[in-house]
Amino acid sequence: MFRIFTGQVQFVLDPSAEGMGYFQVFLLLALIPGSTGLDNGLLRTPPMGWMAWERFRCDIDCRKDPTNCISEKLFRDMADRLSEDGWRELGYEYVMIDDCWMSMQRGSDGRLQPDPDRFPGGIANLARYIHDRGLKLGIYADMGSATCMGFPGTTLDKVELDAQTFASWGVDYLKFDGCHSNAIEQLIGYPLMSKALNWTGRPIAYSCSLPAYLGGLPPNVNYSYLGNICNLWRNYDDIEDSWASVKSILDWYSTNQDDLQPAAGPGHWNDPDMLIIGNFGLSLDQAQAQMALWAIMAAPLVMSNDLRTLSADARAILQNRVAIGINQDPRGIQGRRLLQELGHIEVYWRPLSHSANALVFLSLRQDMPYLYRNSLANLNFPAGSFEAYDVFSGKTLSGLTDHTIFTVSINPSGVVMCVSGQLFYGSVKEEAVKFPGLVFSGRPKFTQRNNSHRGPLTQTSLSGPAPRQLHGRLTVGAA
Ligand code: GLA
Repeated sequence: MFRIFTGQVQFVLDPSAEGMGYFQVFLLLALIPGSTGLDNGLLRTPPMGWMAWERFRCDIDCRKDPTNCISEKLFRDMADRLSEDGWRELGYEYVMIDDCWMSMQRGSDGRLQPDPDRFPGGIANLARYIHDRGLKLGIYADMGSATCMGFPGTTLDKVELDAQTFASWGVDYLKFDGCHSNAIEQLIGYPLMSKALNWTGRPIAYSCSLPAYLGGLPPNVNYSYLGNICNLWRNYDDIEDSWASVKSILDWYSTNQDDLQPAAGPGHWNDPDMLIIGNFGLSLDQAQAQMALWAIMAAPLVMSNDLRTLSADARAILQNRVAIGINQDPRGIQGRRLLQELGHIEVYWRPLSHSANALVFLSLRQDMPYLYRNSLANLNFPAGSFEAYDVFSGKTLSGLTDHTIFTVSINPSGVVMCVSGQLFYGSVKEEAVKFPGLVFSGRPKFTQRNNSHRGPLTQTSLSGPAPRQLHGRLTVGAA
C-alpha cells in the first residue's frame, strides 16, 4: 500500500483493490498536471433545464411505449417544448439525457455509443438539433464498471476517451454518476474526468455524484476541494415523486447546512436533485414549496416532468419569474433554515444582490391554513422599513418596519415566499426586475454568522390562536 498526493486529495492505493492495478493508476495520476482547479467559467448561477430520469427512468421499450421511452424522440420533443413554450427565455436551457441511452456494448473503437434503435441519428445529430434551438445538451455517464442501470461504465482507463467522445458530439454538460466503483476509483476518477473535460477544450459543465457515494458530509467529503473540480454535485438520495421525498431531502440539507451551505457559490453548487413539479406526487401547494425552497437553496432548477402535457398550474409555478430570479441571484449565496417552530412552521432565508432578501415560510402542518405571526426584528433583520412582495400571490405589502408584527397564512405543506429589494433576473442579467416602490434598508444582522439557529427562536403553540382564512396571504396584524 502507498500514498499519493494530488492537490488536496490523498489516495491510498491498495494493490488488492478491485479494478486497475496500482501501477496503472499511478501512471494515470502522473498524467494529471499539478493544479486541481476547474476553471471552466461555467454555471455562475445554478443550471436550469430538463432531465429525463425522475419522470422517464429507464423506459427503453420503444415498441410498447414510443412516446415515453428513452429515445432521441423524447429529447427532441422536450427541446421543442423548451424552445417553443417560453422556457428557454426564462433560463431553462439544458436538455439532459440520463441513464439508459447507451448501447450495451462499446464500439469496436472502444467508444461509448448510443443504442442504435432508440438513437438512430446519433448523439452528435441530437446535439445539433438542440443547439439549433438555442439550447444545450447534457449527457450521463458513470465512474465505474457499469452505470446504475447496467449500461457500460467509465472505468479509469476510459475516462479520457469518454470525455473526448462527449466533446466531439457537442455535449455541454456531463452528469457523472458513481455506481459500481469503489472509493479509490471514485477519488481518482472524478478529478481525472474534470481534467479530461478541460483538456477537450470544449466548455462542458461537470456534475459529480461523488459526495452522494461518500455519505455526503465531511470528513468523508472535502467540499472546498470538490468546488475546484466540479460545477455541481449530488450530495444525497435520489428524489422520488412524493412530498415525503421532497421533505426528507429538504430536511437533510437543512440539518447539515453548516457543512453544505458554505460549499455553494458561483460555479459550484449543491444539487438536491430534480424538480418534480408537474408529475403525480405533489399538490399545488407542495409544488410551490419545492420551487420556493429550491430557489432558497440555490439548487439547480432541473425539471423532470412531461413538458408536453404539463398543467397550466404547474407551468405557472415553474415559470414564476421572481422565484427564478431568486434562484439565479448572481451573488450565489445559498440560503439557510433560520427557524423550526414547535408548531411545525419553518422559516428560510436567502440574502440576495443589492441588499435584497428572500424569506420562505413553510408549513409542515397537516390541519388547515395556519396564521403565523412574527416580526422581521425577531428574524434578526436590522431596524428599518421594508416592503415585501409575495412571490406566488403577486401582492405587495408596504409599511412594514422591523417591529411590525406581520401574519402569514400558510397552507398545510405549503409556503409563503416573500422578497424585498431589487432582484436581478438570472438568465437575462441586464434586465433587473424591480418591484415598484420596494424599499429596503440594511441587511439582516446574521448575514455573516454561522448557523446559530439550531433551535426555535420563538415557540408557536400548537393550540395557539385559531387559524382563520385571509383574503391575502401576507397581512400586517395588530402587534
Ligand atoms: C442514480 C442517480 C440518479 C439517476 C440514476 C440512473 O441513482 O442518482 O439521479 O441518474 O442513477 O440510473
